[in-house]
Amino acid sequence: MNGILVAKNIHRVYQDGKRRLHVLKGVDISLNSSEILVISGPSGSGKSTLLHILGALDKPTKGEVLLDGTSVYKADDTTCSKIRNERIGFVFQFYHLLAEFNTLENVMMPGLISRQSSVVSRQLLEENAKQLLDKVGLSARISHKPSELSGGEAQRAAVARALMNRPDVVLCDEPTGNLDHKNSIAIFELIKELNSKEGTSFIIVTHEHEYAKFFGNVKHLEDGKLKAA
Ligand SMILES: Nc1ncnc2c1ncn2[C@@H]1O[C@H](COP(=O)(O)OP(=O)(O)O)[C@@H](O)[C@H]1O
Ligand SMILES: [Mg+2]
Repeated sequence: MNGILVAKNIHRVYQDGKRRLHVLKGVDISLNSSEILVISGPSGSGKSTLLHILGALDKPTKGEVLLDGTSVYKADDTTCSKIRNERIGFVFQFYHLLAEFNTLENVMMPGLISRQSSVVSRQLLEENAKQLLDKVGLSARISHKPSELSGGEAQRAAVARALMNRPDVVLCDEPTGNLDHKNSIAIFELIKELNSKEGTSFIIVTHEHEYAKFFGNVKHLEDGKLKAA
């Protein structure tokens, strides 16, 4: 299998005292660059668990994840954090913007974090962040705090932040779970546009059924395995 993100035989078992929960039972994924993959499944089917493993936020009990050929979990912790910060973007249901920073600073944040090991100037980061905010239609909101943004605006800011370090893949966990229909469609269209114009690949997990109409490439997570939709 070759692809920008490859997952091989992913298993995840949660052990809570006596209770043993085998959530993922051998998941394989091969995502090409410029591909959008939607993974649907009901609540509790293991979608977030899988996304966290793909994004190096959680370790699988068994199996491996390769990003552009590099094995994420064989890397040491520093390399693993670097991969997470520079090669993967995350978008969550509740945006996870930092309340004390404005929109521009939130979008710049992944760049500020990775800058510690490089010489990119703050000015350049600011320019990149402003360009991204322009792309997601938020140029007029750059100095607003997250509490001053609508849900749709906050999620568009989160998408811009996910793109800040030009990641190989953006992982989205129920990105429209907190939005009304109109704002959900706006996020769908934004993802499609970023994918076709910039070639960014996306994996989106969701329990909503509307995604199938929008994005052709849908798989179901069922009984711990990915099945054709
Ligand atoms: N840290 C954890 N410890 C124990 N069980 C967990 C943990 N995280 C998730 N689970 C359980 O694993 C299953 C899948 O959870 P999750 O991946 O969040 O599903 P989804 O995102 O599809 O709703 C659920 O039954 C959930 O209760
Ligand atoms: Mg979830």
